[in-house]
Amino acid sequence: MNYNKKTVRDVDAAGKKVLLRCDFNVPMAKDGSGVITDDKRIRAALPTIQYLLDQGAAVIACSHMGKPAATFETYVKKQTEKGKDPASLTEEAWKQSLAALSLKPVAARLSELLGREVLMADDVVGPDAQAKAAALQPGQVLLLENTRFEKGETKNDPALAEKLAGMAELYVSDAFGAVHRAHASTAGVAQYLPAVSGFLIQRELEVIGGALANPKRPLVAILGGSKVSSKIGVINNLLEIADTIIIGGGMAYTFSAAQGGQVGDSLLEADWMEYALEMLQKAADKGVKLLLPVDTVCADKFAPDAASQVVKAGQIPDGWQGLDIGPETVSLYCDAVKDAGTVIWNGPMGVFEFPAFAKGTEAVAEALSKTDAITIIGGGDSAAAVQQLGYADKMTHISTGGGASLEFMEGKELPGVACLLDK
Ligand code: 3PG
Repeated sequence: MNYNKKTVRDVDAAGKKVLLRCDFNVPMAKDGSGVITDDKRIRAALPTIQYLLDQGAAVIACSHMGKPAATFETYVKKQTEKGKDPASLTEEAWKQSLAALSLKPVAARLSELLGREVLMADDVVGPDAQAKAAALQPGQVLLLENTRFEKGETKNDPALAEKLAGMAELYVSDAFGAVHRAHASTAGVAQYLPAVSGFLIQRELEVIGGALANPKRPLVAILGGSKVSSKIGVINNLLEIADTIIIGGGMAYTFSAAQGGQVGDSLLEADWMEYALEMLQKAADKGVKLLLPVDTVCADKFAPDAASQVVKAGQIPDGWQGLDIGPETVSLYCDAVKDAGTVIWNGPMGVFEFPAFAKGTEAVAEALSKTDAITIIGGGDSAAAVQQLGYADKMTHISTGGGASLEFMEGKELPGVACLLDK
């Protein structure tokens, strides 16, 4: 995939209406109060919005939020799948579910952060959005409603893409978190307008793309998380690129079991044991160092207050389960990071939510904060861990995309990037 894409700096936005796709899919308080619990994604969009405004553009921002049912029929289908009685489902309840995913709270927060009014449309491409977009003046910002309120969004419906495009003269995407989605507002719209990236996508492409295409070596990839099945693509792709791959988290037990180790009650994906052996073979064939835990902190139950003991890897007693890497593994992994040129980290080393089993993840985060290597943290859990531990400003780059950064590291084409103009 070509990562060398035109950016907002390569086009003239002065006096133009710009459709700006952001990822404003922010976490909201569960009580329906409309309180945004983390506004990082809104803040991350500010440099591009401010730049466009400074250039004299009128900004029509749009984003998805959550996974709303765009029609009553879809709502009934989804709720029925969740076990609800279809007879009890009302249109009123469906409308309430949509209201909970309105972008209105985002408009309010964006307005506070920008220090200027942000107009809010009641729909995505309906009469209110069309009228407000038509009247928008340079220096003004309009936010459209949740793009997924339109059923054509996730289907990448050309008619919806064309309507979105019809409101603007230029398309800028800064929604890195959604570039793995081929949706009308993330990809389809680029068929109808000149399409360039904002600063957020530009930086993600430069740093992650640079590390994948031309890494400062040695390249060390630290892969954790619970399941081999969700990391197969990443392991497979990084085996082509990395010098060392470090495996931690729950998925290490599938590797251990595949090699004949005893894993007790640890998380095990039996269907993936064969695959784990194939990856070990691939690493050997390619001369990639693949490090697995040599010891494990195991617990007598999956709970924060479980009794624990450290055992050798592959020797977890029956009735016990591995919840973190052990101290010998910690020093092995931290040593591997010391002389790295680039480190890519995706996925925690243990059950990070339980303080007693967070030590492996904490130690890796600390080691990364001290190395001179380029350090790239994939979105999701590892990004949250680094932030919680206060190491965020010590890292070269923390990706704003969870699924998107994973698919990027899998070497997959990202529709929301592929659709942008090449330099
Ligand atoms: C995310 O939160 O990872 C992005 O906003 C994408 O959301 P999605 O998984 O609902 O497409």
